[in-house]
Amino acid sequence: MTTRDAAVWVAVVGLALALGCGNDGGGMDASSAATAGKGGAGHGGAGTGAGTGAGEGDAAVVGDSGAGDAAASNGGSDAALPGDADAGGLPSGCPAPAPNQPPESLSCTGLYGDITTKKLASGVQAFMPAVPLWSDGAGKLRFIYLPPGQKIDISDPDAWRFPIGTKFWKEFKSGTKRVETRMFWKLTPTFWARTAYQWNDGETEATRTGGGDIQVAGKTYHIPSTTECDQCHKGRPDHALGFEEILLGLPGSTGLNLAALKSQGLLTGGTVPSKIAIGDDGTGFGSDALAFLHVNCGVSCHNGNSASEAYSTGLRLAVKVADADGRAPTNFDSLKTTVNVKTTTGRWLGKIRITPGSPSESWLYSLMSTRNPTNMKDQMPPIASRVVPTAGAKLLSDWITAM
Ligand code: HEC
Repeated sequence: MTTRDAAVWVAVVGLALALGCGNDGGGMDASSAATAGKGGAGHGGAGTGAGTGAGEGDAAVVGDSGAGDAAASNGGSDAALPGDADAGGLPSGCPAPAPNQPPESLSCTGLYGDITTKKLASGVQAFMPAVPLWSDGAGKLRFIYLPPGQKIDISDPDAWRFPIGTKFWKEFKSGTKRVETRMFWKLTPTFWARTAYQWNDGETEATRTGGGDIQVAGKTYHIPSTTECDQCHKGRPDHALGFEEILLGLPGSTGLNLAALKSQGLLTGGTVPSKIAIGDDGTGFGSDALAFLHVNCGVSCHNGNSASEAYSTGLRLAVKVADADGRAPTNFDSLKTTVNVKTTTGRWLGKIRITPGSPSESWLYSLMSTRNPTNMKDQMPPIASRVVPTAGAKLLSDWITAM
């Protein structure tokens, strides 16, 4: 335990004791959490999670920013939670997860009412962003559970806030076979439990995994670790990357998209525009190219949120909702920080991000159309992908050529 972790631990334990949280002074253990009863399991996770995580010295798992002091303040906000905030509940018969941890099996996360037939549990809805993140060709399905009666706060249209108890899942298939399903589960105002579950051969259950390379149909398939989840998902204050106003508002989004959210009365704190559109820059490829960059690079790492992984580069590839009204993108960050702009990264100094008319002299294009398995730092994205998005690369090449 580092000094800092120790300090956090002391702070959290102190807080828990001061608030009269009995137990071991910071972490309700799994068995006592279980006695909290059905639906009370969330209380175990929400009420004591931060303390336990800090005690394990796992600040990265606890603090959304990965910082120890964030963990300490989590302790404070957890304590302020109203009693048994519905943290999503768990299916009956499932053991309560360890504090601050997701369940060990997918069937216990509440995604499926029947995991054998893949019938969704009640309250779970599917959604699909208009433009997906490239995932090396894997098929993906996405689901959300919102606690009954709870709404999403959209007062910052670029950074939606979800109610405690929200769960997101993303299921990955290779061909027709389920490989892994990822989950984010909001337990406190600032903490989401998150993990990946690897499916068994018969697709009757998926079990929690710490991530790593596995073999699927003779090929290496990488399941991300929690640290890798965070590299991308910390790019948004409340971590959802595809469940957002632009990607659910553009034509092509399906399921619980912006229109459905509105008609189901699930949004609060603002009104959504009647139409979301990314304007073209006169090339005929601009709208699609900017949407591609938004989801593949912008929502996660290359945006103006100082917690995002690539914030310091100054390269901004996310489109703001206020700009997504069909206007010409002339003043978009995605153009202002790329076209004829040099890279700031030391080993690439002198390279120009986008040279109009010349994909081969556009470093942004070179990196996204390269895969370098032995040195993933010299490709984009630098994690998670080993296969070039052929269609996306052609789109960017056509776009830059037409500039
Ligand atoms: C390379 C970046 C990256 C990594 C690594 C990553 N994600 Fe994501 N994830 C995204 C993006 C971008 C989206 C939205 C676009 C989409 O779904 O196609 C997303 C979507 C999701 C969703 C659907 C809800 C949402 O945010 O829109 C879930 C659930 C999810 N990811 C879980 C995880 C978990 C758990 C991990 C780690 C085990 C992980 N992800 C790793 C980038 C990443």
